[in-house]
Amino acid sequence: WHFSPLIIVILGASGDLAAKKTYPSLFSLYTSGLLPKQFKIIGYARSPKTIESFREHVGKYLSDDGNGGVDKQRFLENCDYINGKSYGDEDAFKVVNTSIQTFSPVANKLFYFAIPASTFAVSATTIKTTIMGEGWLRIILEKPFGHDLESCRELTESLAQSYDEENLYRIDHYLGKEMVQNLMTLRFSNLYFSRLWDSQSIAAVLLTFKEPFGTDGRGGYFDRYGIVRDIIQNHLMQVLCLIAMEPPLKVDGSSSDQIRTNKVNVLKAIEAISIEDVVLGQYEGYRDDPTVPDNSTTSTFCALKLHINTPRWEGVPFILKAGKALDERKAEIRIQFKDAPAASFMFDTPVPRNELVIRLQPREAIYIKTNVKTPGFSSQPVQSELEVDYTTRFGASDSKNNPDAYTRLILEVLRGRSAGFVRKDELEEAWRIFTPLLHQIERERQMPIIYQQGTRGPEHDVKVEEWGYLRNSEYV
Ligand code: BG6
Repeated sequence: WHFSPLIIVILGASGDLAAKKTYPSLFSLYTSGLLPKQFKIIGYARSPKTIESFREHVGKYLSDDGNGGVDKQRFLENCDYINGKSYGDEDAFKVVNTSIQTFSPVANKLFYFAIPASTFAVSATTIKTTIMGEGWLRIILEKPFGHDLESCRELTESLAQSYDEENLYRIDHYLGKEMVQNLMTLRFSNLYFSRLWDSQSIAAVLLTFKEPFGTDGRGGYFDRYGIVRDIIQNHLMQVLCLIAMEPPLKVDGSSSDQIRTNKVNVLKAIEAISIEDVVLGQYEGYRDDPTVPDNSTTSTFCALKLHINTPRWEGVPFILKAGKALDERKAEIRIQFKDAPAASFMFDTPVPRNELVIRLQPREAIYIKTNVKTPGFSSQPVQSELEVDYTTRFGASDSKNNPDAYTRLILEVLRGRSAGFVRKDELEEAWRIFTPLLHQIERERQMPIIYQQGTRGPEHDVKVEEWGYLRNSEYV
């Protein structure tokens, strides 16, 4: 692909997603020499714009190129703009096609859907009937993929009428994060983790997502979805699959379908969540957002427990926790091990459990809560950390060592590697697990517990301990 001409068409070119993620990522691929020599970007949206004003718009979102603006200028020279009446406007898509054919009839084509999900199906069909040429045609899509199992199936079926699954790349940007991509290496290349990775040694798994801000101008979208659909059903479940799946034969893209099949097998072994196993919260002031209805019962916090019914995970609780307007920004995985067999009788003080912590953000790190002797005259154990801090160890803050999730994922699409994207059966299984719960909450209009902004959310520690995770160390 690197030697073939490439066209990237961005539908929704004036929107937020394109501005904040798509353009900066494409530019980063360009400056890293990862786009083909011959490439062109076509922005497509409804508002009329000149090429100059489009380039100016894109330019605002590109980082400093460290080259006096020369790279930026060259990149922008490859950007073009076309507008249409809608995202299914055949005439306008024919103009896009003419532009593609003029550029190169053999170009590979990537369509990036930075548009509302309600227009996915019509855009996909219109592309099918209007865009010609020999090279491959791939589509990148991003959530929401429906709002429950049924609507997800409808969307999947309508896309399947025009495209093979292998050409649809559904982004879950958590799969593009360094520490998430790291999970397979960590689990399968370290003897001491791979040997301990099951219910014989693991007491509980805790996945946490916290954000210190609320809906931030996205209240209209958020209120229709809520925290379960926005974070748990997709981002946290994808991470959970990578923690819980059986080993694939290979970790590279050539075994992409095996990885995804192993992930889907995890989801298949999870029963639909019961309301008994859920704590819901809403931050105080959420309903003051003018785009949120005054009587909204949408949750902005959720903690829940689930089990994976496989021999490996028998009896191990997986606790998933996500919330907005909390005390800090943090996404992490905690694998809590069972008590060490002799510890209870050898020492006078209680011995904390070992824990493997994988911090996805901020400041990526892996550490193991390890008991050591209290230094000095005492012989009692004290908990300490064996730690790999990615910034210190690898200088992980630059864009080469730690590219943005979108940059990595777009490159994977260009390479035709689909392991890091969500397959339709994964999506459906994830919806199956949450749909009954979501429907029940909505039917009964259950009011979540109100919590103060900037706190850890509504009281849930008792539940979490009951579920099997002992909060013996840090505040999480
Ligand atoms: C998005 C959600 O998918 O992920 C947002 O829609 C959330 O609500 C965001 O803020 C979090 O992403 P990150 O990469 O900042 O953790």
